[in-house]
Amino acid sequence: MLRTHTDVLVVGGGIIGLAVAWRTAQRGLSVAVLDPDPGHGAAQVAAGMLAPVTELQYGEEPLLRLGMASNARYADFAAELEQASGLPTGYRACGTLAVALDSDDRTELQELYAFHQRLGLTSRWLTGREARRLEPMLAPSVRGGLQVEDDHQVDGRRVGAALLEACRRAGVELVRARAGRLTVEQDRATGAVAEDGRQLTADQVVVAAGSHSHLLPGLPEGVLPPVRPVKGQVLRLRIPPVYAPFLSRNIRAVVRGCHIYLVPRADGELVVGATMEELGHDTTVTAGGVYELLRDAHELIPGITELPLVETSAGLRPGSPDNAPLLGPTGLDGLVAATGHFRNGVLLAPVTGDLVAEYLAAGRLPELGVPFLPTRFTRSAAQEALR
Ligand code: GLY
Repeated sequence: MLRTHTDVLVVGGGIIGLAVAWRTAQRGLSVAVLDPDPGHGAAQVAAGMLAPVTELQYGEEPLLRLGMASNARYADFAAELEQASGLPTGYRACGTLAVALDSDDRTELQELYAFHQRLGLTSRWLTGREARRLEPMLAPSVRGGLQVEDDHQVDGRRVGAALLEACRRAGVELVRARAGRLTVEQDRATGAVAEDGRQLTADQVVVAAGSHSHLLPGLPEGVLPPVRPVKGQVLRLRIPPVYAPFLSRNIRAVVRGCHIYLVPRADGELVVGATMEELGHDTTVTAGGVYELLRDAHELIPGITELPLVETSAGLRPGSPDNAPLLGPTGLDGLVAATGHFRNGVLLAPVTGDLVAEYLAAGRLPELGVPFLPTRFTRSAAQEALR
């Protein structure tokens, strides 16, 4: 039976697993990635908004710091990745405009603006008329806007393909098989057995298997908290050249209390997302999901119904119990986590690659990653208080 030993084995080859693998190989470690279809995770469906400020939620300030750190690295990450792979990433520094449709929506957006101001974040309040001056396709009923100049976009599909090629060129071994089980010897993770029987041993094993992470057979109970799948349905439309630019920046909107976003790519694709549904590992595209997205998008941008609808899809966001990622060493020696990125996998890929590669190569998780240690769910409250 085939046996492979590497310094690091990454289980899961979505963009998080591949970013970790690429950065770790750059540090001089030998790396294998175990995945039946590497480069094809949830990022295949994601719209790729890089919007830590626009998508800020109350109580998520540590996540904001991580998101802003990753956003600040994105331009360099994309340029380096394009250079290393010879492939485009679709990174576009276009900024984001958040808009509100009725007066309740405007109150919600004003609260976000006030929160930005309390945290010293840069955003600019706009009247409805000012928002429409920036984006003339917006409906006349838009009541207000919030301009966030530093929240940009990237194409998750292109990032996945580029990371796969960069990994290949960096010497990462791609084992195209499903993980059968994790192997643990003397209370230490030692590798995995692929479903086809291949044995992969490693000094350190990284779990980056998205919403399947805690389901990996062989994983001792309690080492990883449950990572739940949160379904998102997404539409892809095409902007014919005659309508271009149609939209010049990302639009995030509250439409009668419902949240929606539109991400216009430089190549003419317009991505509209996304539903939030907790239905287990179900990726069915439903008439109801498509209807809700189109209904809200049409109310916001009436001209959208003129565009060809070219694709509907659904993906699964991996949500941890506190919706923040799991990064770094776990309670099992040799086992490292890079999962649970929930709504922020595309945004957090660069910083996750850097932080986890630093831990794997130097045995130290940088300060920025410490709030996201997976052991935060297993430590007792008393231990936590003494930290
Ligand atoms: N970050 C956008 C989403 O998860 O829908």
